[in-house]
Amino acid sequence: MKLSGRLGRIKPSATLAINAKANELKRNGVKIINFGVGEPDFDTPQNICEAGLESIRKGRTRYTAVGGINELKDAVCATIKADYGLAFGRENVLVSCGGKHALYNLFMTLLDPGDEVIVPAPYWVSYPDMVNLADAKPVVIPVSEKDGFLLGPEALEKAITPKTRLLILNSPSNPTGKYYGEKQLKALAEVLLRHENVLVVSDDIYYRILFGGRKWVSLAMVEEKLRERIFIVNGVSKSYCMTGWRIGYLVGEKSFIKAATDFQSQVTSNAASISQWASVEALAGDQKPALEMAKIFESRCARVMEIIAAMPGVTCAAPDGAFYVFPNFSAYYGKKFGERTISGSVDLADFLMEQAHVAVVPGEAFGEDKCIRFSYALSEEEIEQGFEAVKKAIEKLK
Ligand SMILES: Cc1ncc(COP(=O)(O)O)c(C=O)c1O
Repeated sequence: MKLSGRLGRIKPSATLAINAKANELKRNGVKIINFGVGEPDFDTPQNICEAGLESIRKGRTRYTAVGGINELKDAVCATIKADYGLAFGRENVLVSCGGKHALYNLFMTLLDPGDEVIVPAPYWVSYPDMVNLADAKPVVIPVSEKDGFLLGPEALEKAITPKTRLLILNSPSNPTGKYYGEKQLKALAEVLLRHENVLVVSDDIYYRILFGGRKWVSLAMVEEKLRERIFIVNGVSKSYCMTGWRIGYLVGEKSFIKAATDFQSQVTSNAASISQWASVEALAGDQKPALEMAKIFESRCARVMEIIAAMPGVTCAAPDGAFYVFPNFSAYYGKKFGERTISGSVDLADFLMEQAHVAVVPGEAFGEDKCIRFSYALSEEEIEQGFEAVKKAIEKLK
């Protein structure tokens, strides 16, 4: 069947391909340790589940306003006030079916053919494809490990052209876990002040998972003059172990939010009513489970970094948050196992699946082929076993 040209510009999610291969091996009785997952390994906290159930009991099961129930918009505004120190009202908030949907609404509402979107690499796999779906052009700017995988002001300045419409910032980052501190954000803000047509989306979906006592900071907090040009994307998926509930939100300038809400009204209508009520509890209720989860990720990260440091030839930028590490395995590229030569991250991921029975995501999917992404949203035992198997497998490469 002839498909739209749009589909030719996107590729299926790399993570899903890895999962398919892992499932095939599992069906054949092989135990796979899955470092490929992009979601916390904890259950949704009980108080949040109860709020969802309560909304069903109360019959809150019908369409809601397209942009979300007022109670959730208020909870979003209160969260942004508490965590960002910024004052927004209901008219600045659009509730969508996950952070991904919030980003899609933003791109579709903002971008036209020919518009350029700056995507620092390594990037979250979906950004370039989503920009392509909106008929705009992703402009990928490689950022090196030696620069901590953080986009610097010179690289940003160089990337901006008269066609640049949007910059995507993701902190802490998927896949690197790196985070933009105040100093880095101020340097970027200085550049952005010189280019008033450039807007910014700050994808803050991992902002609650920060290590080393880091305080949350985002671009909108460091430069007041940029505020009207910044969109915040966030959601409950990662912070509250609610990936399946599908609630994310977009916060920004009110006429834009109105337009994005109109767009959503013709695509999905409102996000699920039950999930919205559960999300009110997530944002406004007890924050202890979320804080505890972040602490667990921090201690797992420390252990993972210790293990990686002991792997010959492997380097890794220390994450500041989220639940991923993005070690550089390129010292093993060009090496052989029997007849097989490892030519890059896709080959290495395949080799690790077969020889170590671990699933990882090749760095190529994130725009950095030297690296491999490991998610440590796994039990301590699986982390130990999985990395031990990786170590033994790479020792076989000569
Ligand atoms: C950087 C980043 N942004 C957005 C999302 C989307 O999250 P959601 O599950 O809320 O759609 C993800 C999910 O993996 C992500 O890693």
